[in-house]
Amino acid sequence: MKIDILTLFPDTVNAVLHESIIGRACKKGIVEINCRQIRDFTDNKQNQVDDYPYGGGWGCIMMAQPLKSCLDSVLEDNEGRSRVIYLSPQGQPYTEDTARRLARDYDHLVLVCGHYEGVDERFIEKCVDEEISIGDYVLTGGEIAAMAVADSVCRLVPGVLSDEECYTGESHWDGLLEYPQYTRPENWEGMKVPEVLLDGNKAKIDAWRHQQMLIRTKEKRPDMFSKLSLSEKELKAVERNLKGCVECRKAVPEDLHKIVDITKQAKQILQKRGIPQWLGEYPSRETFSDDISRGELYVLTVDGSVEAFFMLSGEPEPTYAVITDGKWSSDEPYLVVHRAAVSDAYRGSGLSDILFKNVERLALDTGRKYLRADTHKTNKSMQRCLRDAGFVYRGNVEVDTEPGFDPMRYAFEKRLKYKK
Ligand code: ADE
Repeated sequence: MKIDILTLFPDTVNAVLHESIIGRACKKGIVEINCRQIRDFTDNKQNQVDDYPYGGGWGCIMMAQPLKSCLDSVLEDNEGRSRVIYLSPQGQPYTEDTARRLARDYDHLVLVCGHYEGVDERFIEKCVDEEISIGDYVLTGGEIAAMAVADSVCRLVPGVLSDEECYTGESHWDGLLEYPQYTRPENWEGMKVPEVLLDGNKAKIDAWRHQQMLIRTKEKRPDMFSKLSLSEKELKAVERNLKGCVECRKAVPEDLHKIVDITKQAKQILQKRGIPQWLGEYPSRETFSDDISRGELYVLTVDGSVEAFFMLSGEPEPTYAVITDGKWSSDEPYLVVHRAAVSDAYRGSGLSDILFKNVERLALDTGRKYLRADTHKTNKSMQRCLRDAGFVYRGNVEVDTEPGFDPMRYAFEKRLKYKK
C-alpha cells in the first residue's frame, strides 16, 4: 500500500504517520507514505495556492492548478490501482467498511487535504474519485482526516499488525464493539478482573467475550445493534443480561411521548418493509391516551427507560367474531394483545420475548387462560414473535383499516396453562 498525501503541512503529517506502528511498517517497507507539498507545484512566482472566491464571500479557495500539478506528479509513475480521495465534510461518512474497501481494492491512495474555505470545485469534478468525511463537524483542514484514513487503512495491510486477530477482534470488525480488556494487577483499587478470564479455559473466555461484545454494542451503540442479525443463542446471551433491568408496569400519561416515539419508529419499519399495518394516524397519541385511561396499556422499561409497550384488553374484539379459513379453538372469554412495539434500540435484543412473557403473566393474573392476537400476513417478524411466544395461527380475520388497504389479518391464539 502506497499513500500520497497532498497537503500544505507535510512536516506535521509526516511526523505523525512516521511514529509508532505505522512508522514501523513504513521502515519495514510494508507501507509507503509520502507527504507532498502542494505549494511546490504552483506556476506563479509568489507560490500562491489560494485566491478569493468568485461571487464574493468569506475566506480563500485553493486553486485547481497547484492541486492538479501535484496530483499529476504522484500519479505519473504509478501503475497500481490508484484512488484519489478528497477529505471533506461533504464526503461520505468514513467507517471501518470504507477502510476495508480501500485496503482491499487499491494499492495506491492519494489523499488530498483542502484548507481555507475549500478547493476549486473544478478540481474535484475533474480529478477526485471519492470524497470522504470523518464526521459531521468541520475541521480547519483535511490533514487530521487524511491521517485518520491513512492510519486506519494501513493497519489493515497484512504485516502491519503482528497477528490477524489484532484487527478481526476489534471494535467495528463484525459490526460489533470490542469486549472489555484487562491487564495486571488482578485487583486494582478493589476492582477485580472478571473471573472467567483467569482460569485459562479458551472456549469459556471466547464465549464470554462474544457475549460482552453483543451487550456492549447494545448498550453503547444501539444503532449498530439494531442492524445485527443474531442467532437464537446470541439473542439468549443478550437477553440474559437484559432480564435483570427490565420491568413491566402499567403505562401512565408521562410515558406518552416515549410511546409515540416508539410508534413512529415502528411505523417507519412497517412502511420500509411494505407492511400495510398502522396506517395513517393510527395508532395516535389519543389511542394510547384512551388505552391508558382504561388501564389497558403496559410499558416495558430497561433501566427505567420506556423501550416497549403493548395493550392487553379483556374486552372482546368485535372483528374476531368471524374467522375464515380456520377456527378459533374455543369460545371462552379471552384477552387480546394489540398495539405491541419495541423501540429501535431494543429491536432484536430479546425484549419482545420478555414482552410476551409479561403478557402471559398479566393474563394469568386475571384468571383467563386464553389469548388472541392478529397481524398482517406480510408482518413476518410479528408472526415470529407470536410463534416464539407459543401462539398458533388459527385462520384469518378482517379488521377495520384505511380504505384501499388489505384488511385481512392472520389470527393467532394461545392457550395458557396455570402453573401449580
Ligand atoms: N475537512 C474539514 N472537515 C472535514 C471532515 N469532517 N472530514 C474530512 N475532511 C474534512
